[in-house]
Amino acid sequence: MRLQVLLLLTAAGCAVGRSLRKSADKKLLLISFDGFRWDYDQDVDTPNLDQLVVDGVKAKYITPPMLTMTSPSHFTTITGRWVEDHEVVHNMMFNTTTNLKVPHKQTLSRSEWWDTGVPPLWITAQNQGLKTASFFFPGGGANYSGQSVNRVVMEEAGFPDDNETEWQQNIDTVLSWFSQENFNLVTLYYGEPDNVGHAKGPDHPRRKEIIQQIDRTIGYLRTAIHRHQLTDSLDVIITSDHGMTTVKKRPLVDEIVLNKYLNLLKLASFEILDYGGFGVLTPRPGMEQEVFDALSMAPNLTVYKKHEMPASFHLGRSERLPPIVVIADLGFNLNSRFIVYVNKGDHGFHNHHMDMKTIFRAFGPSFKQNFLSEPFDSVHIYPLMCKLLQIQPAPHNGSLSVTEDMLRSGGTRGTGPTVWILLLSLLSRLTVP
Ligand SMILES: *[C@@H]1O[C@H](CO)[C@@H](O)[C@H](O)[C@H]1NC(C)=O
Ligand SMILES: *[C@@H]1O[C@H](CO)[C@@H](O)[C@H](O)[C@H]1NC(C)=O
Ligand SMILES: *[C@@H]1O[C@H](CO)[C@@H](O)[C@H](O)[C@H]1NC(C)=O
Ligand SMILES: *[C@@H]1O[C@H](CO)[C@@H](O)[C@H](O)[C@H]1NC(C)=O
Ligand SMILES: *[C@@H]1O[C@H](CO)[C@@H](O)[C@H](O)[C@H]1NC(C)=O
Ligand SMILES: [Zn+2]
Repeated sequence: MRLQVLLLLTAAGCAVGRSLRKSADKKLLLISFDGFRWDYDQDVDTPNLDQLVVDGVKAKYITPPMLTMTSPSHFTTITGRWVEDHEVVHNMMFNTTTNLKVPHKQTLSRSEWWDTGVPPLWITAQNQGLKTASFFFPGGGANYSGQSVNRVVMEEAGFPDDNETEWQQNIDTVLSWFSQENFNLVTLYYGEPDNVGHAKGPDHPRRKEIIQQIDRTIGYLRTAIHRHQLTDSLDVIITSDHGMTTVKKRPLVDEIVLNKYLNLLKLASFEILDYGGFGVLTPRPGMEQEVFDALSMAPNLTVYKKHEMPASFHLGRSERLPPIVVIADLGFNLNSRFIVYVNKGDHGFHNHHMDMKTIFRAFGPSFKQNFLSEPFDSVHIYPLMCKLLQIQPAPHNGSLSVTEDMLRSGGTRGTGPTVWILLLSLLSRLTVP
């Protein structure tokens, strides 16, 4: 009897060891190409992206969270939480009391903007024994309750975002982290095609060139995965944070100048306007209704009191967001006093517009081939990543049931729970006299 129990225990122990080792062997690369609209590959030759459709998973498109902006959307992807929960409510760190506004690139290394009590995937994975890294990815450069991501490369200002040689070097760098240093999760970020979309507009030939450059880079990635002998172990997800739309300008439309409808200096104590289609204001004490009424008269936009926003926006419960939120109609910019805006393309608009939708592709040993997924919200990527890494997710707003059809059956199914039940039943048997 005793021998039997010992043998069983040994077997269970081995199984636990194997399942833990299996989890530690999991490798996931998450790549984001900023501002890659869902249909950018449909008017230009993209042989490598096309091949990915055959070799992996493609979603028709995915929907970013409301607040279709780089930092808020990326943080929803990496936390699985709505923006009202993770509270990264703008690209710029701001404080409505002090009137502080920190530019986007500098905000990336300000922990107080990111560390709001919602742990991103890197931290959750590290706390379960995995090794993680962030290459340029928004949020990767912050500390969370004092803990940093195991390895971080931060974007330096002043370098071009579209250097193809550098794009390839970055791929080799992160693949060597997997193949030589046993990293489990790496997030890799590219600033294109967002830059080109802003500067030239989504319909410009230069945007099509950048999509071809991205396509070549994906071809390079696949060759490099073979070269690093990661074909059988590395899962890859390619996605983005939002789309892009053409900015409407005179003489096509009358551009919005908000000061024509309300005296901003007199009525507002804080504002972030002149930032595409999404604006926020803090009215001076007692002037909330006046600000709201004045903005309600302005054409080509919708004004919300924060606490009365539709629950489906998942913004209203935010504490950081100022009391008045303005969302322009598609393509309109919210200018405060003058039309100073030079962008030809922009985002920040309501996430129901097709122009704000973005991409999702995936391939690797855990994914089915030639699988076309229906559209879904980007908040659901988080539980998928946890499943791939075989870790326990932190509380989140996604659902694995939305994406698990894209996984090979059994491919990632862990033996963990069964083993623990077996062990527990053995232990209880041992303690019974
Ligand atoms: C804004 O600044 C004030 C004054 O320094 C500070 O008390 C407050 O905590 C800050 N608010 C946020 C949200 O950081
Ligand atoms: C993160 O913490 C480390 C160690 O305390 C510190 O050196 C680093 O400056 C912090 N980084 C940020 C972005 O706060
Ligand atoms: C592109 O990157 C490569 C490798 O880092 C570098 O040698 C080259 O000078 C860069 N080109 C430009 C135009 O910055
Ligand atoms: C913008 O608002 C004006 C005034 O209400 C309206 O006539 C026009 O059709 C709107 N433009 C668009 C593109 O919706
Ligand atoms: C999102 O998830 C958090 C954590 O579980 C939860 O507190 C919150 O209520 C969820 N939000 C919604 C809209 O379900
Ligand atoms: Zn942008």
